[in-house]
Amino acid sequence: MSDGSRKATDADLSAEAIRAALTTRFVGRNLVYLPETDSTNTKARRLARQGAPEGTLVIADYQTAGRGRFNRRWLAPPGSSLLLSLIFRPPLAPHQAQRLTMLCGLALLEAIETETGLRADLKWPNDVVLAGRKVAGILTELSLRGATVDYAVVGVGLNVNLDPARLPADLLTPATALSHEAGRRVDRLSLLGAFLQAVEQRYLALRAGWSPREEWARRLVTLGRRVVISEGERTFDGLAEGVDADGALLVRLDDGRLRKVLAGDVTLRPPERLQSSRLRRFAATFAPVRRKGG
Ligand code: ATP
Ligand code: BTN
Repeated sequence: MSDGSRKATDADLSAEAIRAALTTRFVGRNLVYLPETDSTNTKARRLARQGAPEGTLVIADYQTAGRGRFNRRWLAPPGSSLLLSLIFRPPLAPHQAQRLTMLCGLALLEAIETETGLRADLKWPNDVVLAGRKVAGILTELSLRGATVDYAVVGVGLNVNLDPARLPADLLTPATALSHEAGRRVDRLSLLGAFLQAVEQRYLALRAGWSPREEWARRLVTLGRRVVISEGERTFDGLAEGVDADGALLVRLDDGRLRKVLAGDVTLRPPERLQSSRLRRFAATFAPVRRKGG
């Protein structure tokens, strides 16, 4: 299948082109476009600390130190992907912040479907999958002010026009790209415009009291499956039965107890991956990036 990947950076992403493609009121209106950076999440955190407004978009064509949860690497050849971070100042308690990951995941599904006709799904807690392979990941990082969220940075890496064979073969979850699944090159600008529009609509709804839980649960491939959870050195398995309003996974253990699993604490593998996941050690995802005033 043709994947439309290019060797050089696409000419289609630039601050001017992105501004022209925006249909939003505030998401992306404060825009930082970088041909190359270490990590858009790192840049966005710095800008948020300096007071950047809600909706600020940091987007790069290439990252030298892109990261996922637990400081794992996010890899993407230049010009191949959407690599971006959004700053939010949500009226949420820290334990509710996974709702931002949830709404951005749903916005990704919507944008992918609009732009390619492909129906992607979600894998708990922060992946987007197509044909059983990972096409996008979301990394949400928080800064707390006392018991509330001062700001949240939601980072998204979406494989658009790339040959999955160019990614390392030992990724934890096998990867794919939109171009690979669609059999054609996909326009990153329209995709970005559709995504930001969907984020804004859902974020405004969230601020007005909407909960992403139901829609998110419907698109989670994880539910109804047996899962193995790795928490530090410990692992346990059970049946993924549901999710709560804050995106915690409800796992029915074999002894009949229901265990609530927080996204920040664990990695999830299908049962056949137990052996490799048992060997891994992990830190917490939602570790506050900075504390102010308590
Ligand atoms: P996984 O996505 O592997 O199931 P996870 O959701 O816990 O696990 P993170 O902990 O955020 O993922 O780590 C990011 C992981 O994404 C890396 O460990 C790596 O396996 C994978 N990865 C890195 N770059 C890409 C990419 N371009 N496409 C798909 N997966 C990638
Ligand atoms: C995951 O796979 O679980 C999360 C991956 C998030 C990667 C994106 S790429 C843009 C932003 N900047 C980063 O350093 N990470 C996120």
